[in-house]
Amino acid sequence: MKSQFTESGPLTRLIGAAQLARLLGTWRDNQADYLALASAVHRLIVDGRLQPGIRLPAEREAALALGASRTTVTAAYGRLRDSGFLVSRRGAGSWTALPEGHQVATSGLWTPDDTSDVLDLGCAAMPAPVELLEAAREAVEELPAHAGRSGYTPIGLEALRGALAARYTERGLPTTPGQILICGGAQQAFDLCLRLLLSPGEQALVEAPTYANALVALTANRARVAAYGLTPTGWDPEAIGSALRQGRPRIGYLIPDFHNPTGHLMPADLREQLAVAAHQAGTDLIVDETFAELPIEDQVMPPPLAAFDRHARVLTIGGLSKSHWGGLRVGWIRAAGPVIQRLAALRTGLDMGSPVLEQLTAVHLLERDLLPARRAILRSRRDALVGALRETFPDWRFPVPAGGMSLWVELDAPVSTALARAAEAYRVRVAAGPRFGLDGLMERFIRVPFTLPEESLQEVVRRLALSRADVERGIAGPGRAPLDIVA
Ligand SMILES: Cc1ncc(COP(=O)(O)O)c(C=O)c1O
Repeated sequence: MKSQFTESGPLTRLIGAAQLARLLGTWRDNQADYLALASAVHRLIVDGRLQPGIRLPAEREAALALGASRTTVTAAYGRLRDSGFLVSRRGAGSWTALPEGHQVATSGLWTPDDTSDVLDLGCAAMPAPVELLEAAREAVEELPAHAGRSGYTPIGLEALRGALAARYTERGLPTTPGQILICGGAQQAFDLCLRLLLSPGEQALVEAPTYANALVALTANRARVAAYGLTPTGWDPEAIGSALRQGRPRIGYLIPDFHNPTGHLMPADLREQLAVAAHQAGTDLIVDETFAELPIEDQVMPPPLAAFDRHARVLTIGGLSKSHWGGLRVGWIRAAGPVIQRLAALRTGLDMGSPVLEQLTAVHLLERDLLPARRAILRSRRDALVGALRETFPDWRFPVPAGGMSLWVELDAPVSTALARAAEAYRVRVAAGPRFGLDGLMERFIRVPFTLPEESLQEVVRRLALSRADVERGIAGPGRAPLDIVA
């Protein structure tokens, strides 16, 4: 399924004047118009909504669409150029850019030494449900029936594949066990899909922000990553459409169900449009459904994106880490049967199969209806966190997600990394915005999962207030990367 051609040369992606006007919204403030316009564009760039390397409309067109004078646009572009956020070539146009030295690493491993008293919100994940032990015992009892065979299951145990296929079928996506491959978590599922679909240097299109470890896997697979910004309310169909049309990426990676980190839920009609647009662009979609089974309001979930796929363009990945427990390391890929066969052949170069005991435990966990209790816990924790944040930080803004496990919080200033560092001194671990974006952007945002008990979340917010005050007074936190693994 690798594409027949490898793209090369710079990406020409451009934004039309009307689209820029729409992205900017009300940009005028109490500064002179050219300053207001320059700051508004600057903010779109640093918030990751307008990626670096996008050609801006010519000054005259921009002026017309923005209802501003050409002099204003010229001066605003000039100011952006002076600060390094725009580069222009005479006769060719102007491209968004990042000033030298702006780029910071979005990942890097640091092993925490002493984490026992840390309020850890670095991972959006919960401890195992108590039923795990019972399920594991049942799995042990069943083990003799499997122990007489080799134990290698490159596609996975039939019983687990059957249970997962039945769940998809119930959600409106008829699926057979032959369309499921079990692997080590959604993360391995993503990596396997990339190995199958993407050659080094090919373009992968992602959301900005996106799941931090997806970026790590894309880098490891030497993808050329392009991103389109999410809006404060979710996906902008036009932005995705033009990114697909202009970039013709080899793969697109999407998290439509309670997106990590923003919590957005993609509506059904956009799912349908995307399946069509991806096919037209020759793009395969890797749809990450890690949070799909965690709606926390009484809502009807839209069908899986793959339900709209008529051309075997969609590979769906999922896992039990969020709905049940990360320590099981059980995830899967749902795709057309022949694709599953190819993935199974590929994965023998990696790990030969998933552990039998964990798969059996997963089967027994899935037999129990544990999700209603899980959802109720998350709902009450979300409400506690929302209440505490609103009370303590009236200037911070965030959408309240109807599912998933975290809030994507817009701070009162671009101080996310400093805040996460300062919070370390108060034994709170949170993931700063740049972990979820490219090029060190997203400094105005921080992800706060609501996975700890209510009283711990209240305490987190109290300590974040102390941290914010330290940042304001210029008191530095520990001089190291604030956390290791973001999940
Ligand atoms: C969107 C998303 N995809 C994948 C993963 C990885 O999950 P797993 O533990 O199943 O590998 C996570 C974990 O946080 C996630 O949030």
